[in-house]
Amino acid sequence: MQRIVSGMRSTGRLHLGHYLGVIQNWVELQDSNECYFFVADWHALTTRYDNTKDLRQDVVDVVIDWLASGINPEKSTIYVQSLIPEIAELNIYLSMVTPQNWVERDPTLKDMAKILREKETSNSQISYGLMGYPVLMSADIMMLNATAVPVGIDQVAHIEITRDIVRRFNNIYKTDFFNEPTPVLNHCSLICGLDGNKMSKSYNNDIKISDTEEVTAKKIMTAITDRNRIRRDDPGHPEQCEVAFKYWQIFGNDEQIDAVKCECEKGLRGCADCKRQLGMLVNERLNDIRERRLYYEAHLNEVHQIIRNGSDKTRAEAKKVLYEVKNIIGMY
Ligand code: TRP
Ligand code: SF4
Repeated sequence: MQRIVSGMRSTGRLHLGHYLGVIQNWVELQDSNECYFFVADWHALTTRYDNTKDLRQDVVDVVIDWLASGINPEKSTIYVQSLIPEIAELNIYLSMVTPQNWVERDPTLKDMAKILREKETSNSQISYGLMGYPVLMSADIMMLNATAVPVGIDQVAHIEITRDIVRRFNNIYKTDFFNEPTPVLNHCSLICGLDGNKMSKSYNNDIKISDTEEVTAKKIMTAITDRNRIRRDDPGHPEQCEVAFKYWQIFGNDEQIDAVKCECEKGLRGCADCKRQLGMLVNERLNDIRERRLYYEAHLNEVHQIIRNGSDKTRAEAKKVLYEVKNIIGMY
């Protein structure tokens, strides 16, 4: 059994990339591990400190999407990062032992900084807080002395820094207190956005978990197909069908995928019909989730209670770890 910690920034309603890439993995892990999942609202602030109007609602929306997707609060502990002030304190201790060049060469952080610079808004400077992103992540993970961290591939570089920080802390203070956590990747292939780019809210190419059946079907009709295909009976090339066929491969069973491939290649399948069918398939998969989402939207008190209980439990654990850490370092 592993002690598992993972989080997501509070970016508002989640999309299929989050669901297939990360949440599904969490749902599987919660059956046989001790799982802690949290909304990283401090991490959200690293890039949106000047845009906090919807932050509170965004936290709630993320948790509702998790619950709807099958994260079970009886099995997993759900909490909000900013409700655990011990994390901020641990972040201070870790920031002392982290060499500056470790954060400066974090490739994921470099990408984030680049995107920020390209935005060219008045507040596009890279803050001190953003530079501390991987250290704060390490505090999240080490706060519960986790042994495994299930994340998307883009987060692995951060976790490498966490492993380095663990080793360095243990070395400096001659202890074996902290576990070296391993990143856990899922086995599902990455889903792209409707336009073929990475699925992202900011590219406006995403399908949200909370989208209705109608909206989902409509969005899928806009998915890119084989660009060289003009008429319905032109032979198609599924391997060049940039988005629609990839979605079939993710959502269909072997039989369905074979049938689509075969009919497409023979020119027996029009792209519009193909995507209409695909829409129905995706909707089937999402229906249970939507139903659960509606339930939680109508029972917000339950959601807040889940967050409160989870945060209380996490805080009690965090206090124990922090007590040890202060002792190990030799604080007053
Ligand atoms: N950086 C992660 C993301 O962007 C969120 C996150 C914050 C996290 N702290 C973490 C993930 C600790 C795993 C462990 O989604
Ligand atoms: Fe893609 Fe389907 Fe069109 Fe073939 S028929 S190109 S698989 S959308």
